[in-house]
Order: sequence, then structure tokens, then C-alpha cells
Amino acid sequence: MDLIPAPIAVRRAAPGGAPGLSLDPASTLAGAAGTEDAERWLRSVLGAATGLALPRAADPVLGLRLDPALAPEEYRLAVDAERARITAGGPAGAHWGAQTLRQLLGPDAYRRAPLRRTGWQLPVCEIADAPRFGWRGVLLDVARHFLPLADLLRFVDLLAAHKLNVLHLHLTDDQGWRFEVRRYPRLTEVGGWRERSMVGYRTGNRRDDRPHGGYYTQDDLRELVAYAADRGITVVPEIDLPGHTQAAIAAYPELGNTDVVDTRALGVWTDWGVNPNVLNASEATLAFFEGVLEELLEVFPSEYVHLGGDECPKEQWRASQAAQTRIKELGLADEDGLQSWMIGHFDSWLTARGRRLIGWDEILEGGLAPRAAVASWRGYAGGVAAARAGHPVVMCPEQHVYLDHRQSDGPDEPVPIGFRRSLADVYRFEPVPSSLDEVSAGQVIGTQANLWSEFADDSRDLDYRAFPRLAAFAEVAWSPLPRDPAARDLADFERRMRTHYARLDAIGVAYRPPAGPHPWQRRPGVAGRPLPGPPPQV
Ligand code: ACM
Repeated sequence: MDLIPAPIAVRRAAPGGAPGLSLDPASTLAGAAGTEDAERWLRSVLGAATGLALPRAADPVLGLRLDPALAPEEYRLAVDAERARITAGGPAGAHWGAQTLRQLLGPDAYRRAPLRRTGWQLPVCEIADAPRFGWRGVLLDVARHFLPLADLLRFVDLLAAHKLNVLHLHLTDDQGWRFEVRRYPRLTEVGGWRERSMVGYRTGNRRDDRPHGGYYTQDDLRELVAYAADRGITVVPEIDLPGHTQAAIAAYPELGNTDVVDTRALGVWTDWGVNPNVLNASEATLAFFEGVLEELLEVFPSEYVHLGGDECPKEQWRASQAAQTRIKELGLADEDGLQSWMIGHFDSWLTARGRRLIGWDEILEGGLAPRAAVASWRGYAGGVAAARAGHPVVMCPEQHVYLDHRQSDGPDEPVPIGFRRSLADVYRFEPVPSSLDEVSAGQVIGTQANLWSEFADDSRDLDYRAFPRLAAFAEVAWSPLPRDPAARDLADFERRMRTHYARLDAIGVAYRPPAGPHPWQRRPGVAGRPLPGPPPQV
């Protein structure tokens, strides 16, 4: 069956025993109340792949229903020679059960038109399954390189196929602003594109001379949110502040530190790296971003809203009379206190609107806002501190699950940056460090793989960096693997991956082959920045 991610429990009829359930033109499909989305999805994907109509029936061959005794994402799948039954705790669980059913039909079930009309068979089995973590996320950076909506929808399908349930969308950065804000049109008119891009790591000193840009209208994003929700996925938007904001400052120069730099001369940034041009902390700037967030909340219904908070250099605030006056007026200790105060402002603002702030672990510096959740990226330490203080934590340490980082030590890796993270390395990633006691460990609501896009300018590049490693990550996030990475059965995972590659081939995923990149996946001569040796154990 080679399921990925591995379910909690599988019971299979002995080989040669039960004949399996054959699907044919007489096969029917129906879902009971609460499973409508999963039913519609299953009819659409299986209908496309098999050519079968799968009409509704009172006693269907493929049936879905809810059972309130199960947790919302939990499901059971039972197949005998007559019928298959998916029973789930909620709509998302019904979708995960439907995804498992598709896996059981074989790689051709991932195609969008039938290669054949016969021979569709489900093995007789009983599966009991539920996720380890409620937050199984992937960050996609659509700011450094814009990803067209059609590619984004395809990426949602790939997440759903791996039972990942959070798409963290990094919508704004120094190099581009991708979210339409109706009251501030210059954010996308000016901030939505740049004149050229750096090619590779900055030491290579290479640039193209090609304008790059694009943005999503609010309706585009409503479509994305609805498409994701149909598949059990929540889209968590990120508006990064107070750093990573040069595109916004280029559009509205009054947002920057105008007493330190001539912000009217700033364009959208055309380099990669950490940028000194950050927001000022005035009341007007806070009000401006409240306006942005008001529109954001109308588009994204997620409980969590990510406000970044990472990599905000403080030198402009140190040099700015306005910032120094603000620090004194507010009775703050220093520039870290000022950032913490800004994040705290939005923590209260979001809380008052029934939402919750999540930010990168730098939001711990200067004091963590009362309700904030932390995405721990610089290692485990920020997440450990936040969990011990009783805050929700998403573990996404760059040493382990930054999927923009290189996949091998070999010379052929395209634009090799960061730590070497092979498929096996990601399979051995454990989100909950053993230093946390049981209570604090319970604050780790999940884990996330982050896919930054400085060195991935289209969906094929993203596929290469995401796969196959996202399959290993999905199993880490979903399956009940031993917490001791050394006790995990890597050989069994690698064996199941052989079937999984055939599924990815059927979908058309441009993954990194196990033996190394295809010639056309290499980027000879484009500088990277590989970090030496194994990642520090942090
Ligand atoms: C980050 O990688 N700057 C969150």
C-alpha cells in the first residue's frame, strides 16, 4: 500500500485472500451531511483519473460519513469486496480519508484524464488514522518571487495530497508586496514589482535585467482560501513588520525613518539579504497597518495572523530622533522594547477582533506579547522559551526544515545555500525537543517547513526544493514516529518512497531525483552559500 504519510494502524487482508473492491461504471459515491466537500473533491479527482461518473446512490459503493466520537481530523477507512467506507470526525478528516483512498488506487489515480478505463481496485483493508500535530505547515514565500495563482492552487493540491493543513503565505517583503489593499493602491502599484533581481547569493554579484512582479487581488486570495478550505487547509497570511518592509516604504515613504534616510529615494529592493530600511514606530504608521490588517482579516478567516517580526535591524531606530523620543515617551528600555511594543500593539488589536498573532522568534526579544504564538526558526531555543512561558509554538528550525537549503553536499546542487538537508535528514527531524517537559511539550501545536524563494523563481524550482523532502516532512508532522530519530525506520520510508515517486510523476512534480539533479535542474556558475558541516544541535 506504501502510504505516505504512514497511518497509525493498517489491517490488510492476507495476499491472495480477498479480491479487493473493483470500481467500474456502476460504482457510486455519496457522502452524508458534513462530508460534502470531501465527496465533491473525490468525485472530481477520481472522475478525472478513471473516467467513471460515480453518481450518488442511497447505498453507495464509496461512502463518507461523520462520527462525532472521532477527533475532527481523525478518520477510519474500511474496504471490503463490496464497498469502501470513510468515517471521520469532521470535514477535514473526511478529506484525509479520501486522500488515503486515492493513494490506495495507485499512481494513475493522480492523473487528470484516464490512461485506462478498467482495473481500478482498492485493497481490502481497515485503516485507523489521525495526525500527531494540528499545525502541519508549509511556508511559501511569494514575495521574493511571485507565484501565479494557478501555481499556488496546484501547490495547495500538493499539500493536501500529503495531509499538510496550513499554508503560511509570506505575502510581503523588501522585494515585493503581493496583497491588494484597496485603500492603499500604491502598495501593489509601486510595491508589487521591482526593476531587476539578484541571481544567486549576493557574493556572486550577478543580476538579471528583467522586471519581476505580480500581486494577488483580494478575490484571488478568497479563491485560494476557499480552495484550500475545501481540502482541509487553512491559509495563514503573513504581513512582515517592522523589518522586511522596503517595498511598502517605497510605495509610501512616510512609513520609513524619514529623519534618518531619504525614503523617497528608495525603490523596491533588488537585492537579497537583511535590509536596514524598516518602519518607523509612529501612530500614523500603526494606523496605516491597522488599515492593511482590516482588509486582510476580510480575506483570511484564519485564527492566526502572522506579523513577521524577524530580522529587524535597529540601527535606523538608534539614529532616529523620532524613534528615540518614542522610546522615552512610552517608557521603554531600548529599541528591542520598541519592536516588542509594536508587536504588542497588534497582538491586542488582533485579539480584540477574535484573532491571534503569530510571529518569528525575534518577537521574544524585549518581551513576548501576552497572547502571541511563536514560530521558532533560528533553532529550537525560541520555541522552548515560548513553550515554557505557556505560549503556542510552531517548530520550524532552519537547521532542519528550511527547504530552500541544499539537499546534498554535491557540486551539482542548484544555488546551494544553508545546511545540507537530505531526504533522510528531514525524516529524522523531531519537532519536540527532549528538553521540554510534558506540559511545555503540549504547547508545541505543530511544525512547519519553510520554502523561501530567493533562489527559486518559478514553480519548477519550488518543486525541486520542496520534493521529495516535503513527503518526509509530512510523515514527521502526521505520523506517530518514534521521537528518537535514531529509532525511525528510514529503510521502510525509503521503500514506500519508491511508490511515492510514481505518484509525484503522475502529478507532474519536478522533484530532485535520488541520484541528484537532472542536468536542467542545475544552475552552473550561480553562487550559493553552503554552510559547512552538520547543523549545530540547537
Ligand atoms: C526567517 O527566515 N527570516 C524567518
